[in-house]
Amino acid sequence: MYPYFDNLVHSLQQFLEFTEGITLSYHPEAIAPHGGKLVNRVATPAQKELFLSKAQFLPRVTLDERAVSDLEMIAIGGFSPLTGFMNQADYNRVVAEMRLANGLVWSIPITLSVDEEVAAPLQIGGLVRLDNPKGEYIGVLELSEKYHYDKQREAINVYRTDEAKHPGVQVVYNQGSVNLAGDIWLLQRDPHPQFPAYQIDPAASRQMFKEKGWKTIVGFQTRNPIHRAHEYIQKCALETVDGLFLHPLVGATKEDDIAADVRMRCYEILLEHYYPLDRVILAINPAAMRYAGPREAIFHALVRKNYGCTHFIVGRDHAGVGDYYGTYDAQYIFDEFAPEELGIVPMKFEHAFYCTRTKQMATTKTSPSKPEERVHLSGTKVREMLRRGELPPPEFSRPEVAAELARAMRIQQPALA
Ligand code: ADX
Repeated sequence: MYPYFDNLVHSLQQFLEFTEGITLSYHPEAIAPHGGKLVNRVATPAQKELFLSKAQFLPRVTLDERAVSDLEMIAIGGFSPLTGFMNQADYNRVVAEMRLANGLVWSIPITLSVDEEVAAPLQIGGLVRLDNPKGEYIGVLELSEKYHYDKQREAINVYRTDEAKHPGVQVVYNQGSVNLAGDIWLLQRDPHPQFPAYQIDPAASRQMFKEKGWKTIVGFQTRNPIHRAHEYIQKCALETVDGLFLHPLVGATKEDDIAADVRMRCYEILLEHYYPLDRVILAINPAAMRYAGPREAIFHALVRKNYGCTHFIVGRDHAGVGDYYGTYDAQYIFDEFAPEELGIVPMKFEHAFYCTRTKQMATTKTSPSKPEERVHLSGTKVREMLRRGELPPPEFSRPEVAAELARAMRIQQPALA
């Protein structure tokens, strides 16, 4: 429509991509990444060669599974505008106020924590070689700061509890006491070892949305198999937007969550039988789960904005665990920000269930049912049923998904089969 303007934007994109490791490969009409620019910190072949040539002279830090996924998310732009692990000014303001030092909304600290002995010899201003837990060289940190931080303060502010049994708090308590800050580079973007076909990075998802002509896209976060309540809220959302970006988290989760490979098979089965395939894109979110409830809901939304989503589903107890958060706390927190500060629009859903009176999925907003007419099961209950060899009822889970879960459970626990 405006060829001159489009050309100008294209030249600007090329210029920026050429300069500061910034990719702007999104359509001018698409939602802007958080902070305005899609970060790209994957080393170019020339940079990689340079970093490899320095490898033997660099001090080394070994990342755990979560730090590896954070490195990856920063590098591919999923955590835009972050270009590295947080410095003290950003960290303090994020913990206290859910904002980066420059005022931009950000709700979860993204830090690289190491023990004192590891931090002590590292030189500010130098490069640090980052290894994965297998000892493979995967990235570089340009060390700008080392700082101590208050774990209990982080726990209380971010997780709303200082109880060590909260899985997110437990990670904070177990990690090192010094944060290393600075910009990072990922040496190369490897295909995901388990789900290469579903590894769709933010620049690619933005491109796919553009090719499909989708202007409004709703993102869906999950760490569980998709049950009928999830399906219901996704489809309610899909009635009003162009496409669904089904974005299960496959990074570190707690022990008793269902393994990502089992969940991915369930998603494939579900999509094949029950979804219009031209309206859904399934892609993995490599990030780790924090279980930070409300604060994580904001974080999840901002990450999906970076992937190009315009809307984001927040249902009951989003990213919650145990009873640390109120059922709708993860929805209320969105009211603490002006809509334009977030950019992405939350689509809030009440607790959904199968209603035996109206014989359909519903919430209390749409069904006159009494509590005993509502079929809903907790994830814990379903896992217990599966362990006992029972299938969850069709009102709760599509039979094909239930069968796949039962099959996976029999393989994991042959004694119970
Ligand atoms: S999460 O930890 O990744 O949020 P989960 O996979 O359980 O967990 O939930 C995915 C999304 O579906 C979240 O937005 C959550 O709030 C929502 N959700 C889960 N179960 C229900 C339900 N019965 N009714 C409404 N929303 C739900």
